[in-house]
Amino acid sequence: MRATHYDLDPFFSRRFSPTEFLDKPIADADLMAILEAAGTAPSCFNEQPWRFVLADHGVMVSLLAEANQAWASKAARLLLVAADGHFVRNGKPNGYAAFDSGTAWGYLGMEAFKRGIMVHAMAGFDAAKASEVLLLGELKPLAMVALGYSEQTHTQTPRKGLDEIILRR
Ligand SMILES: Cc1cc2nc3c(=O)[nH]c(=O)nc-3n(C[C@H](O)[C@H](O)[C@H](O)COP(=O)(O)O)c2cc1C
Repeated sequence: MRATHYDLDPFFSRRFSPTEFLDKPIADADLMAILEAAGTAPSCFNEQPWRFVLADHGVMVSLLAEANQAWASKAARLLLVAADGHFVRNGKPNGYAAFDSGTAWGYLGMEAFKRGIMVHAMAGFDAAKASEVLLLGELKPLAMVALGYSEQTHTQTPRKGLDEIILRR
């Protein structure tokens, strides 16, 4: 459990990115609920640019960097977070697509945690190959996400202090 100065929700003190997963599948209803939660995120002009790509497990594993394959292949599910980089309203580039998709991925993790499922994002994957194999077209692949049940001990990664992340002007 992470020590925090203030009394935060357990999601913030207990969440971490596991590399060990139990051999236990995620029920479809849980996965759909997690993705529905992600889709409730706020977004610029309510464009909801996030997309969650589900595909065959073996195909998803083949898109990962070797170092990630080593542990993420054991995850119950792998999904890809991608974004529509253009506003549907006018076709112009949406500079907030990644920001908004990041919020959605955060919400995804929160709902998953509530259901006892842990998530671990990965930048280590072949984005060009993912675009081709997963038929993404114009969608921009952002991150792969491993989901699964885990009994791993919380690996506490360090955090910057509030004085480092708050800029008072
Ligand atoms: C966008 C993104 C990309 C990441 N890429 C990888 C990755 O390729 N491989 C990996 O093992 N962890 C990856 N991580 C996990 C981070 O290393 C991890 O979140 C960070 O060290 C903080 O640890 P914690 O999530 O356990 O608190 C990624 C996390 C994010 C949000």
